[in-house]
Amino acid sequence: MVTANIDLSHKTIFVTGAAGFIGANLVLALLRTVKNVQVIGIDNMNEYYDVAIKEYRLQQIDELAASKSGSSWTFIHGNIADAALIQDIFKKYTPSVVVNLAAQAGVRYSITNPDVYIESNLLGFYNLLEACRHSYDDGAAGVAHLVYASSSSVYGSNKKVPYSTEDKVDNPVSLYAATKKSDELMAHAYAKLYNIPSTGLRFFTVYGPAGRPDMAYFGFTNKLVHGDTIQIFNYGNCKRDFTYVDDIVEGVQRVMTCAPERQNGEDGLPVPPYRIYNIGNNHPENLLDFVDILQQELIRAGILPSTYDFKSHTKLVPMQPGDVPVTYADVTALQRDFGFKPATSLRDGLRHFAQWYKKFYLA
Ligand SMILES: NC(=O)c1ccc[n+]([C@@H]2O[C@H](COP(=O)([O-])OP(=O)(O)OC[C@H]3O[C@@H](n4cnc5c(N)ncnc54)[C@H](O)[C@@H]3O)[C@@H](O)[C@H]2O)c1
Repeated sequence: MVTANIDLSHKTIFVTGAAGFIGANLVLALLRTVKNVQVIGIDNMNEYYDVAIKEYRLQQIDELAASKSGSSWTFIHGNIADAALIQDIFKKYTPSVVVNLAAQAGVRYSITNPDVYIESNLLGFYNLLEACRHSYDDGAAGVAHLVYASSSSVYGSNKKVPYSTEDKVDNPVSLYAATKKSDELMAHAYAKLYNIPSTGLRFFTVYGPAGRPDMAYFGFTNKLVHGDTIQIFNYGNCKRDFTYVDDIVEGVQRVMTCAPERQNGEDGLPVPPYRIYNIGNNHPENLLDFVDILQQELIRAGILPSTYDFKSHTKLVPMQPGDVPVTYADVTALQRDFGFKPATSLRDGLRHFAQWYKKFYLA
C-alpha cells in the first residue's frame, strides 16, 4: 500500500471537465465525502453530445453544494486551451490538487474531427502542466498532486491481456489514443523537470447514470426506444471491461490523496514523482452478453415492453477503424497500492443506468 500524504479537507481542488460524466460524479463525491473542501470546476460545455445532460449534472452539483456548509463550489465556463484563463485560475485559487478530466473523448469522432483533440487533449493539458510548474514560483507550496485521465485506448490492439501498465504502448490505433499517450509522456517530462507529482489513470469503458450518449450502452438504449436498429461491431466478437462510474470515482479519490513522493536520485536531480494505473473492472464482457443484460434491464425498468422484438432491431456489422477487439484491465498495481479494485457488476450498473434513463427521458 502507498501512504496517503494529502488530506483533502480544507484544500482547494481544481477539477477540469466538471460538467462531464466522470468529472461531475467526482465533484459530487468530493462534496459528499470531504469536509470543508473548496472545489473549482471548469468546463467549456461543448456540444459533442447533448448539453442538457451536462447542465443536468451541474444542477445536481449546485443542489448538493447548497446543502453543504463549510464546503464551496465554483463553476467556470471556459476552455482549458485558453492559457491566460488557466493561469488566472491558478493565481486566484491556488489549487493543491488538480484533476484533469476535460478532454475530447471518443475514438470514432477523432477520425472526422481531429483538431479538437489537439486543442483540448494536448494544448489544454500542456496549459495545466505549465500552470502546475509555475505554481511553485517564489517558493510557493503549489500543486501537491496532478491527477489526469488517460485511457485504455493507449493499449491499441496489443495482443497480450490483461493489459498491464508494464506493457509497451507505442502503437496507438486512433488519434484519441495518441493524445492520451502523449499526455502521459508530457506529464513524465514535467514530473522530471519540475518535480510535479503526477498520477495518470487509464480508465476502461466507464458507464452509469447520466453517462455519455455517444457510448454504446446509451446509444443502443436511445435507438431501441425509438424503434431503430442497433449495430454490433465486429459481429459481436468484442470484449469490453465495463467499469461502473462509482468505482472509477472511488479509485480517483483514493489516488488523489496519495501523491508520488518527491525524491532525488544519485545525480542530485529529481526522480520523477510519476505513476500510472489502470482502473477497470478486470472482468471483460462479451458484447453480445452485454447487449443481452442491457435489454433485460430496459424491460425491467419499464423502458421497453417485455414483448420487444430485439432480434429485428439488431444488426451484426464489421469492425470500425480505430476500434479494438478487446479491453481488459490488469489492476494488480491498483490493488497493491490502494487496496481497491472496481467491483460493481454489469447487471447492477446497467440497472442504475436504466432507472436513471427512465426518470430523465420518460417520466
Ligand atoms: N468514459 C469513459 O469510458 C472513458 C474511458 C477512458 C478515458 N476517459 C477519459 O476520462 C475523462 C472524462 O471522460 P468522460 O467520460 O467524463 O467524458 P465527458 O465528455 O463526459 O467529459 C469531458 C468534459 O470535458 C469538457 N471539455 C472538453 N474539452 C474541454 C476544454 N478544452 N476545456 C474545458 N472543458 C472541456 C466537456 O464539455 C465535457 O463535459 C476524459 O479525459 C476521457 O478521455 C473516459
